[in-house]
Amino acid sequence: MAQETIVSVVPNDEGQQQFKKCDQILFYRRQTLGPNLQYRASLDTLVLSEKGVRVELEPETQSQARLLLFVSASRDGTVRVQIDELWPIKTRYRVPDVLTTEPFGEQFRVGKKTSDLVSLTWGAGHYQVKVWAWPFKLDVLCGEEEIVTFNHREKLHVEMLQERPSENPEEHQEDDSNLWKETFRQFVDIKANGPSSVGADVCLHGYSHVYGLPEHADRLMLSDTRDGEAYRLYNLDVFAYDLHSRLGLYGSVPLVLAHKSDRTVGLFWLNASETLVDIQYCPHGKDEEAASPVRRQVPRQTHLRWVSESGLIDLMVMLGPSPSQVFSQYAQLTGYQALPPLFSLGYHQSRYSYKDDADVKAVDAGFDQHNIPYDVIWLDIDHTDGMRYFTWDPILYPNPVGLQRHLEARSRKLVVISDPHIKMDPDWSLYCQARDGGHFVKDREGQIYQGSCWPGDSSYLDFSSPATRAWYSQRFALERYTGSTPSLFVWNDMNEPSVFGGPEQTMPKDAVHHGGWEHREQHNLYGFQQHMATVQGLITRSGGLERPFVLSRSFFAGSQRFCAVWTGDNVASWDYLNISIPMILSLSLAGIAFCGADVGGFVKDPDPELLLRWYQAGSLTPFFRGHSAQFTRRREPWLFGDQVTDAIRCVIQERYLLLPYWYTLFHKSHTTAMPPLRPMWVEFPREQNIFTVDHQYMIGGALLACPITEQGATKVKVWLPGSGEVWYDIETAQQFSGGSSLLNLPVTLDTVPVFQRGGTMVPRRTVCGSCTADLHHYPLSLTMALDSQGEAEGELYLDDGYSFSYRDSNDFSLRRISLQSDSLICRCANQMGLYQSDETVYSVTILGTRKRPAKITLQKPGSQDIPLTFLYDKARYTLTLEGLNIAVGKDWDIKIVF
Ligand code: NOJ
Repeated sequence: MAQETIVSVVPNDEGQQQFKKCDQILFYRRQTLGPNLQYRASLDTLVLSEKGVRVELEPETQSQARLLLFVSASRDGTVRVQIDELWPIKTRYRVPDVLTTEPFGEQFRVGKKTSDLVSLTWGAGHYQVKVWAWPFKLDVLCGEEEIVTFNHREKLHVEMLQERPSENPEEHQEDDSNLWKETFRQFVDIKANGPSSVGADVCLHGYSHVYGLPEHADRLMLSDTRDGEAYRLYNLDVFAYDLHSRLGLYGSVPLVLAHKSDRTVGLFWLNASETLVDIQYCPHGKDEEAASPVRRQVPRQTHLRWVSESGLIDLMVMLGPSPSQVFSQYAQLTGYQALPPLFSLGYHQSRYSYKDDADVKAVDAGFDQHNIPYDVIWLDIDHTDGMRYFTWDPILYPNPVGLQRHLEARSRKLVVISDPHIKMDPDWSLYCQARDGGHFVKDREGQIYQGSCWPGDSSYLDFSSPATRAWYSQRFALERYTGSTPSLFVWNDMNEPSVFGGPEQTMPKDAVHHGGWEHREQHNLYGFQQHMATVQGLITRSGGLERPFVLSRSFFAGSQRFCAVWTGDNVASWDYLNISIPMILSLSLAGIAFCGADVGGFVKDPDPELLLRWYQAGSLTPFFRGHSAQFTRRREPWLFGDQVTDAIRCVIQERYLLLPYWYTLFHKSHTTAMPPLRPMWVEFPREQNIFTVDHQYMIGGALLACPITEQGATKVKVWLPGSGEVWYDIETAQQFSGGSSLLNLPVTLDTVPVFQRGGTMVPRRTVCGSCTADLHHYPLSLTMALDSQGEAEGELYLDDGYSFSYRDSNDFSLRRISLQSDSLICRCANQMGLYQSDETVYSVTILGTRKRPAKITLQKPGSQDIPLTFLYDKARYTLTLEGLNIAVGKDWDIKIVF
């Protein structure tokens, strides 16, 4: 944001006042101080259909709404609990576009039925739902083991929609209940539908670790909220956000994962209005001490309380039991990670803003001069003609097509920013079309809503309208977007939406969208629906053939189907580097797998050590982009002396070499929902002492990364889990045993601690080239890390890297390479794949080979065995085969004879 208008949100800064604390959120107060009602489930109203079961819920007092409970289940182990008013005076908002399928058609069977209880089973029958009549509760069990209880603490509360007491809500200024009108600072919010909040609690039995709920600048494991603020999910533009805070940042995913040794569950609260989540671990703190003598008798539970300003109660409980099953159950609902074009997994260079065409070309050339690979250069808002998106500043960028061709000649791409606010300029055709086409959000009086952002007075596109999305998508057509070419991709920023000077820097909740819905109902969906339209625009632009690339600051559940996200306006300090890791892990757990943080920190200037450490860490995250704010010093990687340049070059090159592995991980994420970045417990679910670890993580199943985020580090502590596991330092091939104590690894400025797990294979390129397009010219090298049984295996995914033909014509190849009984074999891992690759394997390194082989031969079907030369490093137990040049797309065996 412009330096002069924004106050940074750092502790004790007045900018903090800009955002609400929980006690200033009236619906949350009403809910938490609220009536504590009990409901009776009238089991005689129970109706079983092929879709699920409905039961009426009677409140204990007449003044409260009668509710309708609808329970349904999916075959793969998800239970859905929906609650609405039985006779609402109007329809409540249902979140559109997020669920890709609604797999909840399993036929329930009624088990036990008494006056107190009805129990329901489905499918194979090991799960059951019990609906208790009085007081109403709903248990989900596996066999007789309780997993989750809905309304355990009887916090179910739905504010009944009411008729507006008077035609003129202004008259209710004196109404101190603030039900129809609420004031925060100078902002007045008139609630068209009055109070409409919903809330409920859930007990997780046996759990004491919960995760998820991005986006917060906080640790990975969610904290008990008894002593502080609830986790807030309300998309906000928070410049230089405060750390260890539960204030909502740019995006929201209302998903909690709970984990214990033998089960992971997910809770997805589908609601796009402002939402708060309270967490209580039991026993906790003082309770824990008090309980410790009889600890075994105190059941571990985690209590969650969800409160949303509006909409319905719609809770989906994913029952796992493994972490990977929860990921896939959640992806069944909200979609799988899109497979990104390969270039977008390379390095991105950005700045707010490069000066002009010549500057961009000079930076581009700088990468080549310094032999640093990169793929994409980014243009921030100043590339436009007066902050009119889809235009170019005629002086700074007189020939944008020429610039893109210049970059494209080296196979590089351009990303330009396109924000959702539109400059109110009656002389600008795009503004006039949007205005005349009814594409803007309205204010509560029905006039076009006017806010302020980079261009000054602005109107905001109403992406909730399908017609507006279609219109917006069409703006990306090459013939409409003057100066664009197929190598231009898009960055959606400020889409919380950010409104300068607006309530909490965003759009008033009483603004009105398509269909007459208030903004409050769908606030957290605004950015999601923008990137949905942008992605559609890019796909349509290519005739449906090419994969898009869009980066968005705001997001919601399901954004993984469309875009990458980054963690917004962080600061160049060690604390922000440190917190970026749990933030990215939290996004990954919540399905948003293609994520990263601004390398170097957006605000302020990093010193060379911090910058280097940030490059090292950023190179090990899915989205890898250097970006910096206006008025910061330039920080292209070669501006800090040769030592820093060399070290940065090294990590970026290493990233490029590792891209076959990253790409394979994205293929897996796309097809199985396993995120490329995984908290340690995802891979080692039974190892309780790593449930809170969030400074190191797994990249896929094979690599453990522990980026250094401490100034002046000379040692780093690494937890190598898994008793019986073998770990190999990827730099030195040194072996370590898992499950013992913390490793105290000595480090220098160049050290990037990464370990390969025994039993895995990691594919790399042998040469990194100058950008991803070069990579296919270079052969592969495979690193097999032996486990304690002397085995290893892994997969390699290949396709053209940019089109949808992997999907539309099975133009992909998935190979499995495994080493067992001294035989290294390469085979097809998916017979559907038709991709004819000419890729070859140049070398294979086998880590953990205990003795020198006598001979090694290559066997290919239909040809004679070929003896292979090899190198054996006795000190490092490493066997290397080089100069192989064997096609990775063909079947072959390598026999190792000792
Ligand atoms: C805010 C974004 O977070 C930042 O990355 C960008 O540079 C500025 N907007 C200007 O567009």
